[in-house]
Amino acid sequence: MNPSTQLSQEAGPIGIFDSGYGGLTILSRIRETLPEYDYIYLGDNARAPYGTRSFEIVYEFTLQAVRKLFEMGCQLIILACNTASAKALRSIQQKDLPFIDPRRRVLGVIRPTAECIGSITQSRHVGILGTDGTIKSQSYVLEIQKLFPDIRVSGEACPLWVSLVENNEYNSPGADYFVQLYIQRLLKKDPNIDTLILGCTHYPLLINKIRQYTPQNITVVAQGEYVAKSLQDYLRRHPEMDALCTKQGNCHFFTTESEEKFKESASIFLNQSVLVETISLG
Ligand code: DGL
Repeated sequence: MNPSTQLSQEAGPIGIFDSGYGGLTILSRIRETLPEYDYIYLGDNARAPYGTRSFEIVYEFTLQAVRKLFEMGCQLIILACNTASAKALRSIQQKDLPFIDPRRRVLGVIRPTAECIGSITQSRHVGILGTDGTIKSQSYVLEIQKLFPDIRVSGEACPLWVSLVENNEYNSPGADYFVQLYIQRLLKKDPNIDTLILGCTHYPLLINKIRQYTPQNITVVAQGEYVAKSLQDYLRRHPEMDALCTKQGNCHFFTTESEEKFKESASIFLNQSVLVETISLG
């Protein structure tokens, strides 16, 4: 988007962005909770995964996606990606939004997830599984300890899980080894963990295997429902933004990869077939 591009001030769909397919797990829960709104889903599948990329690159790619969604008419965007929320959200909110359009909003998925944790853990020992970028950023540790200083947070990066999902291998027997490996490493760091956050929007696809290798006393928290409730609450508290979100129940899908590839995988995530268009970012 060149700086002179005029952005529409009219109401538009809510933008949902992820590096790939993972954000579809968030989109489904949001649409269940807020079915009357319109949505645009954008997956940067051609450049996924983001989890192993540097801060600068994740920020650059995420900002490109945000600008594209703004051009498409979105006034409100959810970064349905923990890596982008951890590495790019704050800079976009503080540095870029004031120049692009101070009325628009970009929200992430880490804060809503952190907020729910206090009422779930009994032992006050919480584990996070996420991408390398999310874990190294310490975003969950900082966010949870700001809200609940008595909670001990331990994290473990699961660098292969996103690739298992993006490549449709999450049900394959080969996935078991890596699912078990990262969970065991985390529990070794803190055996008192009673709550396990899936801090990556791709991981709900692995939930059956994750449950299989997680002791039964541990609650596994997938973020979709909390992000959806938090968005619902946000729109209630911000009627001015709610008025800028169109409501006809539509959802359009865009990918930076081939349409065929996206269609095939998205239908597995969403359990329905979708129409998708390829676009380029940057
Ligand atoms: N699904 C994303 C997340 O929540 C990104 C995974 C990736 O691209 O590495 O972190």
